Amino acid sequence: MKNDDREIVIFNDIEDISNFAVKKWRDICDKALKNKNYFEVALSGGKTPMALYKRLAEFEETLPWNKTRVFFVDERFVPFEHSESNYRMVNHVLFNNIDIPRENIHSIPTKENNPRVSAMKYEEDLISSFKLAQGQFPQFDLILLGMGEDGHTASLFPGTPSLQETKHLSVAVSPSDLSLRERISLTLPVINNAVNIIFLIAGRNKAKVAKDVLEDGTHELPAAMVKPEKGKLLFLIDERAASLISIIKNN
Ligand code: 6PG
Repeated sequence: MKNDDREIVIFNDIEDISNFAVKKWRDICDKALKNKNYFEVALSGGKTPMALYKRLAEFEETLPWNKTRVFFVDERFVPFEHSESNYRMVNHVLFNNIDIPRENIHSIPTKENNPRVSAMKYEEDLISSFKLAQGQFPQFDLILLGMGEDGHTASLFPGTPSLQETKHLSVAVSPSDLSLRERISLTLPVINNAVNIIFLIAGRNKAKVAKDVLEDGTHELPAAMVKPEKGKLLFLIDERAASLISIIKNN
């Protein structure tokens, strides 16, 4: 289902989503490298994208990892060796299985005194890596996003000031549910500046929020605030997560 600002594609399961997403990754990468020296991508954490990261590692020889710069959409303010670290997950599933120069990996530092310092350091890395002028936002070729049951994406949680940030590239976020840890996240202006944004959504537990975001357009939900300025927005969703959405069924 496609309209002018977004496309929704339904799959049987996360494996089919991941196989399709690898092809999209390759296409976007190839297109980017026609005009630039690096393909710049930002990865989300959580469980949904793990299958995709595993698939990407299987294409180790055919993807130009030496020309790929990997950033993180967000991170939990925990040490990299912590079980809840996004970096730890991606490092285990992807980085350790591909020949990517370590200088091409831009993790969000979490050994700082507090998440605000981490967010500031990450912002400095983004400014330096993308050679940004004052007030400029980085333009990622691809940003991979997930969506929580509460409609959060990245680590932009409903009702947090992070959603109103218009200047900074990365911010510290304190979710109301403390079990979710203090976070560091890319901000909406950075996300909405991307050339391509791909949401990976799977599981029956996401059906209600997928309906809210994709059909009812519940605007205050962070995932519904992802509206790329000029880029493409693609939702890759499995049948279980799409089970309550009627607009797609009517096509
Ligand atoms: C994180 C993610 C977060 C995630 C959603 C969905 O750090 O947890 O960036 O935004 O995408 O919480 O998580 P699942 O894929 O595990 O459902």
